Amino acid sequence: MALENIRLEVMKTIESKVDGFIDEYLIPVDDIWQPTDLLPNLQGEEGLEHVKQIREEAKELGYDFWVVLVADMVTEEALPTYESWLMDVEGVDQQRRADGEQNPWSKWVRHWTGEENRHGDTLNKYLYLSGRVNMREIEKTTQHLINDGFDIGTGRDPYKNFVYTSFQELATNISHKRVGQLAKKKGNKMLGKMCNIIAGDEMRHYMAYREFVKTIFEHDPSEMMLAFHDMMKKKIVMPAQFLRESGEGIAQAFENFSNAAQRLGVYTTYDYIEILKKLNAYWEIDKMRALTDEAEKARDYLMKLPDRMTRVADRIAIPKDEYQFKWVEPNGII
Ligand SMILES: [Fe+2]
Ligand SMILES: [Fe+2]
Repeated sequence: MALENIRLEVMKTIESKVDGFIDEYLIPVDDIWQPTDLLPNLQGEEGLEHVKQIREEAKELGYDFWVVLVADMVTEEALPTYESWLMDVEGVDQQRRADGEQNPWSKWVRHWTGEENRHGDTLNKYLYLSGRVNMREIEKTTQHLINDGFDIGTGRDPYKNFVYTSFQELATNISHKRVGQLAKKKGNKMLGKMCNIIAGDEMRHYMAYREFVKTIFEHDPSEMMLAFHDMMKKKIVMPAQFLRESGEGIAQAFENFSNAAQRLGVYTTYDYIEILKKLNAYWEIDKMRALTDEAEKARDYLMKLPDRMTRVADRIAIPKDEYQFKWVEPNGII
């Protein structure tokens, strides 16, 4: 049987578990928080006071901080790209079945998207109210990011895609959590809470995606190992890697944003390595038996990779200069 067919077969086999995953890792609309729970209520008298408070507290936050928050927000706002990418994965089918039910995998993607959509919404409204950033430039960056689309090197392969999403959900959990801690430390309570609560969503999503991969490992260990190896060998390309400012090319913005994130300690190369270690451990790749020779080699590579990457990371210095983004104007610098 062709490889793709085996993948489809495995996706089909797991289908019966997906409703359970949705119940376990996602929260129903009526029970989950909404952006306005965390933002000033402008229907109420005290709303404008809260806006003033946000603007006052925002003055305590520095240039790199705004750059990172903007890039995080834009990354969340490019959700249409991610949803359409995942909808195209083998085994995910948008069409309703003959009985009118959704294909379980597409139901997952839709419900996951519904949760994720609240993240960009929350941060966008906050940034707008803060008065510290150039919203028009940011909006242009978001539109560019959606226009440009992305290629994360997974193809339509569900195995590779779920490695990717496991990885990036934990990466966003870490970065939102750290941004929240920095905000709180500088007295920005509302923002601190927003980031922290968003980080909580990312954690649930991470736990779901890593479970998908674990389940696939039970069914197709060698192929799952090779897919994991392939993704790590070419490195996980974060969605923000495709960011650009108006009038500029892709790649430059990401490097400058990434340097800002490393300077702040919000997301560093060491975090990338920690994520890999966590995935290796959760999927217990060291204990996996009955692998093909090729998959054995892939496993060896993955086991050694964290140490190898640490040696390289120790040698890399992060530039100290803050790059001037159009998103955050000089008068936004404190
Ligand atoms: Fe998110
Ligand atoms: Fe996420």
